[in-house]
Amino acid sequence: MTIQTFAIQQANFARRIDDVLEDYLKSLPESVLSQAMQYSLLAGGKRVRPFLVYATGQMFGVPLAKLDAPAAALEAIHTYSLIHDDLPAMDNDELRRGKVTCHIKYGEANAILAGDALQSLAFKILSTAPEVLATDKLDMITELANASGAQGMCVGQVYDLESEQQQINVAQLNTIHHYKTGMIIRAAVRLGLYSAGASFRVYQPILDKYAEAIGLAFQVQDDILDVVGDQMIMGKPQGSDMALAKCTYPALLGLKEAKKVAYTLYQQANAALNQLPYNSDLLQQLANFIIQRDK
Ligand code: IPE
Ligand code: IPE
Ligand code: MG
Ligand code: MG
Ligand code: MG
Repeated sequence: MTIQTFAIQQANFARRIDDVLEDYLKSLPESVLSQAMQYSLLAGGKRVRPFLVYATGQMFGVPLAKLDAPAAALEAIHTYSLIHDDLPAMDNDELRRGKVTCHIKYGEANAILAGDALQSLAFKILSTAPEVLATDKLDMITELANASGAQGMCVGQVYDLESEQQQINVAQLNTIHHYKTGMIIRAAVRLGLYSAGASFRVYQPILDKYAEAIGLAFQVQDDILDVVGDQMIMGKPQGSDMALAKCTYPALLGLKEAKKVAYTLYQQANAALNQLPYNSDLLQQLANFIIQRDK
């Protein structure tokens, strides 16, 4: 698969999830809350987590319509995590997805509530999805709750904040990245897999290996971009980690080593995919995108 073919597929999935999310938002009563949710959710974004749901499901022959709800749930959770991540009490950032952050636009209280409501919306989307089997649905809800809560992203964010201005080692940094970023990325792959039905679960260990490698690579590249990225291209501030004395890969190992780690993880991700008896081109290209991206 060429880079161009991948880019077209990526754009198609992004357009699809935008339409799906827009439809869900339409059902909400008009208020400053729904405006704030829409503002952040439909502001663009790379839609990497929906891509993972679609690409994984599609690899096993699942129709895209059956993947819309899991993909939308993942993106709603992710966007909520970004709104809260940007709050003054956390990273205190003023730019996200090329626009001023939710709390700058709508005030802190509304931004907190927009995050809360996006989180609830994610679970409602999943629990009411007509295309998803009830048993698969329960597994998906459990997975999303695990990946995003006190055993996943939220505790990862706590570790991240605690690590500011601290000296930690690579193993500890990997733990932070696993919880704050890796688990939601793994959940995206798992929800795509669960959509395919119980008989495909034998592939979960292989897909988990892929997801864990790209999940860590994703945050390593995010940390690299915080140093070398262009704010205009990224649509979020450059230098935010340095300003807060965050523990990151470039801070710990330097840029060159951080890039090497990202490449090694890319190779690990593809080695895992090569064990699958399916066409995993899209997932391979995504791993490549994750370590090459400039936003
Ligand atoms: C940023 O996520 C936060 C991290 C987990 C590193 P993305 O880089 O996926 O942000 P969007 O969705 O494209 O805006
Ligand atoms: C955030 O990591 C991970 C989340 C759970 C949102 P960062 O704080 O590095 O994400 P950015 O760089 O602000 O997007
Ligand atoms: Mg953060
Ligand atoms: Mg941040
Ligand atoms: Mg970052």
